Amino acid sequence: MKRPKITIVGAGNVGATAAHWIASKELGDVVLIDIMEGIPQGKALDLKQSGPVEGFDCRIIGSNDYAATENSDVVVITAGIPRKPGMSRDDLLKINAKIVGEVTAQVAKYSPQSILIVVSNPLDAMAHVAKKVSGFPRNRVLGMAGVLDSARFKTFVAEAADVSVEDVHGFVYGGHGDTMVPMTRFCSISGVPLETFLSKEKIAEIVERTKNGGIEIVNYLKAGSAYYAPSASVVQMVEAIIKDKKRVLPCAVQLEGEYGINGLYVGVLAKIGSHGLEQVIELQLNETEKTMLKKSADSVQGLIQVLEGK
Ligand code: NAI
Ligand code: 2OP
Repeated sequence: MKRPKITIVGAGNVGATAAHWIASKELGDVVLIDIMEGIPQGKALDLKQSGPVEGFDCRIIGSNDYAATENSDVVVITAGIPRKPGMSRDDLLKINAKIVGEVTAQVAKYSPQSILIVVSNPLDAMAHVAKKVSGFPRNRVLGMAGVLDSARFKTFVAEAADVSVEDVHGFVYGGHGDTMVPMTRFCSISGVPLETFLSKEKIAEIVERTKNGGIEIVNYLKAGSAYYAPSASVVQMVEAIIKDKKRVLPCAVQLEGEYGINGLYVGVLAKIGSHGLEQVIELQLNETEKTMLKKSADSVQGLIQVLEGK
């Protein structure tokens, strides 16, 4: 049986760390691709040489040539640039849209049956670009953000309630930005509602901290953004696909009328297996949740309009 082949485009912080987690879990062979000459080759060789120490056995190569990615099963797209001083959100949007568009065209050419996981920011808009350029069906173009945002939420809950993070369940809906919607009504500690452990004020504080989870880390790092939790989150999605786990994970998927939203990438709970997106889970939301999700979808729509010059 063929070993799964996983390509990661962008051998920067998120891409290289995702390769690390994938290798240590032996999920498949890894191809690292980057525009910078030598970077993917050097990082791939270095990672491969940790195999004898860590006891994993995967083929890991780095390249600047997409021919090396041919017939990948899963492709993770992390290529892009972070925001620099003096650069507007719209400038970043357009620059990364160009990069993600070019990358996706190459990926689709060499791996027309692959499942794409987009990571580059602004996430929901970049997933939209990848879907459009690849021409793949929606089940094969996913965006990663919800797993990360939910992991942040769960970390803060576990800390505040002084319980193991393993017993905290919950998820975040919406776009990957200030308008994301932590779904506190569905969050529990071992099935017991959150309010049993934490005050309303504390929960509201955690919701705000989750929404600002990315910038909190940027403010510490000064240059660059988070990558350990983002790459671990990507790999949870990769594993769900490779092992056909049918995990129910919060992911950015293109909605086709679910939750009253059409044609936009928005984070919702989705069943993820060997076909990629296998089912959008539709929850009965209350009016407040519906309003917050709509506001978040509207902000994704705003980015798409900027991209499409409307
Ligand atoms: P990074 O700067 O460390 O790595 C990006 C890599 O992309 C660099 O190695 C760069 O050379 C490469 N690249 C640029 N243009 C390329 C092209 N045309 N083809 C191939 N490679 C190209 O950045 P990092 O920290 O790895 O983040 C990557 C992206 O992921 C950023 O857009 C970041 O905002 C986003 N991100 C998204 C998260 C999410 O939850 N969706 C979480 C964390 C990061
Ligand atoms: C994050 O949330 C930058 O999107 C990235 O850390």
